[in-house]
Amino acid sequence: MKQKPAVSIVGMGYVGLCTAATFASRGIQTIGIDIDQARVEQIRKGKAPLHEPQLDTMLKNAVKKKLLDATSEISVAADTETTFLAVGTPGQQDGSIDLSYIKNATEDLGSVLREKPGYHLIVVKSTVVPGTTNGVVKRFLEQSSRKTIGAGLGLCANPEFLKEGTAINDALHPDKIVIGSNDKKSADELTRLYRHFYGSKLPPVILTSPEAAELVKYASNAFLATKVSFINTIANIAQQIPGVDVGTIAEAIGLDPRIGGLFLKSGPGYGGSCFHKDLQALINYIQNRNYDPVLFRATEETNKQQANRVVGMAENLLGSLSSKRVAVLGLAFKKDTDDIREAASIRVINQLKKKGARVVAYDPMAIPNTKKTLSDQIDYAENAHSALKGADCAIIMTEWDQFRQLVPKDFQTHMTAPNIVDARRILDPKQFAQLNYLAIGTGSVKA
Ligand code: UDX
Repeated sequence: MKQKPAVSIVGMGYVGLCTAATFASRGIQTIGIDIDQARVEQIRKGKAPLHEPQLDTMLKNAVKKKLLDATSEISVAADTETTFLAVGTPGQQDGSIDLSYIKNATEDLGSVLREKPGYHLIVVKSTVVPGTTNGVVKRFLEQSSRKTIGAGLGLCANPEFLKEGTAINDALHPDKIVIGSNDKKSADELTRLYRHFYGSKLPPVILTSPEAAELVKYASNAFLATKVSFINTIANIAQQIPGVDVGTIAEAIGLDPRIGGLFLKSGPGYGGSCFHKDLQALINYIQNRNYDPVLFRATEETNKQQANRVVGMAENLLGSLSSKRVAVLGLAFKKDTDDIREAASIRVINQLKKKGARVVAYDPMAIPNTKKTLSDQIDYAENAHSALKGADCAIIMTEWDQFRQLVPKDFQTHMTAPNIVDARRILDPKQFAQLNYLAIGTGSVKA
């Protein structure tokens, strides 16, 4: 790379890579750093090591224009002006956050910055519990660099709010930028970088302390998860009342601007890499400080139980599930991704297995990842129709567009009896009225 890179990003996972690609797309010289050599090689070829719409094209262009490079050598960070930390912060058995990747990356980064003559800004993008930036990160950086934050080093907490499937668009058009810092220079430097990135379209910038910035991220995910558990609770109530549909309730309450219509889709419960992990980390964090966040525990418990509700609906249709063949349509935690982390489908499948059902699953993208977890505990089908063949019940677990195209005949032709549980509410109840069709949140008139 001829030009001096301006920004380095440690951790080429989901957040790091999408951030790197979008920075480079705006002409910012960017270098991605990851200990995984295979991943680095792939990125250098302009190929995305994970599935995200637009990412591949963006990477290819950036690599071609020599605006993006990748390496496993963290020493290159010293040649840049700013380093983002975007390493993983997984959950541990007790729910608490695992900061070992943060610690290692911070220590390594500090060492390579020791000899750097000029100023260097470090930005914590990983989701970390309040106090991590000013505690662990600051301590490790200062120890290993032998420099002081505020003088030779700048430090900011700057969480991201990317959604899988729209991460690139989210990164290009965020609704806000949150910058937490202890000193003006750090915040000014990062704001300058974002001003360069967004130009006249700079979104509102919230300047605050590192601890507040860290908590914003948890508050955001806790609110969204609670919104889902809330509407799922209403759905479970609506389902008991003939003639009531949660869709109408969501539409009506969503028109109140204080509530808002987004994130009010009832379903089998939230999944994905963030909500459960972050809620558990927040609960654990604050319980250790003698406060019990009852609301968030209920959000999580509601979510867990929602999978049992789905299985209960199958039991309503079939009676005992023992030896019954159940077709699970959709494994990904939401559509357009191959990600099954914390997916409701896995909770439902585990319940079905426990009750003696034989499970056959189909997903347009997530079968390879599911095989890594469930291997041969279930059967896998090549498409929705073959999954339905000989099935006693079908459960729609992911809202893939292709499942919306299914018509009553598809179920009638292939299944032993057309028993359908629509956990995503994507089929038209009127069209399926003649079949044994149950949707979450729809009070059956027959009931
Ligand atoms: C989430 C946050 O939205 C994002 O801001 C944060 O940075 C990471 O976590 P993501 O995990 O990509 O993003 O998924 P999201 O689209 O938010 O959906 C999370 C889960 O909630 C999915 O399982 C989805 O199906 C479910 N969900 C979402 C509902 O059941 N109903 C809804 O109305 C919305």
